[in-house]
Amino acid sequence: MVPGVKLVIFGKQGAGKGTQCQRLARHYVVPHISTGDMFRAAVKSGSEFGVKAQEFMQTGELVPDDIVIGLVSERLSDLDTRGRGFILDGFPRTAQQAEALAEHLAPDEIDLAIDLEVPTEVVLRRLAGRRVCQDCGTNYGPDNPPKEDDICDVCGGEVIQRRDDTEAAIRRRLELYEKETEPLIAWYLSRDQLVTVDGMGTPDQVTARLIRAVDTRREHRHAR
Ligand code: AP5
Ligand code: MG
Ligand code: ZN
Repeated sequence: MVPGVKLVIFGKQGAGKGTQCQRLARHYVVPHISTGDMFRAAVKSGSEFGVKAQEFMQTGELVPDDIVIGLVSERLSDLDTRGRGFILDGFPRTAQQAEALAEHLAPDEIDLAIDLEVPTEVVLRRLAGRRVCQDCGTNYGPDNPPKEDDICDVCGGEVIQRRDDTEAAIRRRLELYEKETEPLIAWYLSRDQLVTVDGMGTPDQVTARLIRAVDTRREHRHAR
């Protein structure tokens, strides 16, 4: 396998982006860049930036484009991402963010954007049962609880419920997904950069499907 890949992962709140991106990052040996995780780390650190981000996040609103774009551009300029690639989770989420990403990468481009598809009633059930590690961001649900109560299997951090996993904030996040983010799927499709992958089934089944989709795309690219 050729290491390195440049991926963008779309999917509703609770579709499993974080869960799957963590696995794909390990498989392809590339950084997992989650804007949500970056903001949560800032909130936890108590920085001025974190306090500002928290205002938007806890009600499910989007953090303003200029802040998000600045943060991601900086991360994409690091040596590891420039050399090996990246998996973007939760970015881009608006037309302006998608354009900024294309501009940042030009004349290069992403390998693939993936729409991880899961019905709304299933994501609502998943989010209601979700808990996350405060330190490393590993996700736990009713089907995969931590071995020891409230303690992360991976890093020993504390496992808590996310502050934006309230009914009202979840509703708002899903609304904004439909309005701001879903149109980007058509945009990537028109650029012949999108595949849809079924996000139902066990996490292992979904990972296998995702790897197949990415490898198929890369084989075609190398054959050209
Ligand atoms: P972000 O952290 O990106 O949250 P989100 O988009 O709301 O998505 P989630 O993290 O809720 O869902 P996920 O798809 O990662 O699902 P997960 O793997 O956890 O963003 C948070 C906030 O930050 C935003 O609201 C906004 O304020 C701000 N922000 C971030 N990026 C921004 C941007 N670009 N622009 C502006 N603002 C931005 O899975 C969910 C649950 O299901 C887990 O419990 C998991 O264990 C379980 N699960 C996963 N897969 C399966 C499976 N196959 N079967 C059963 N259970 C499963
Ligand atoms: Mg996530
Ligand atoms: Zn952890």
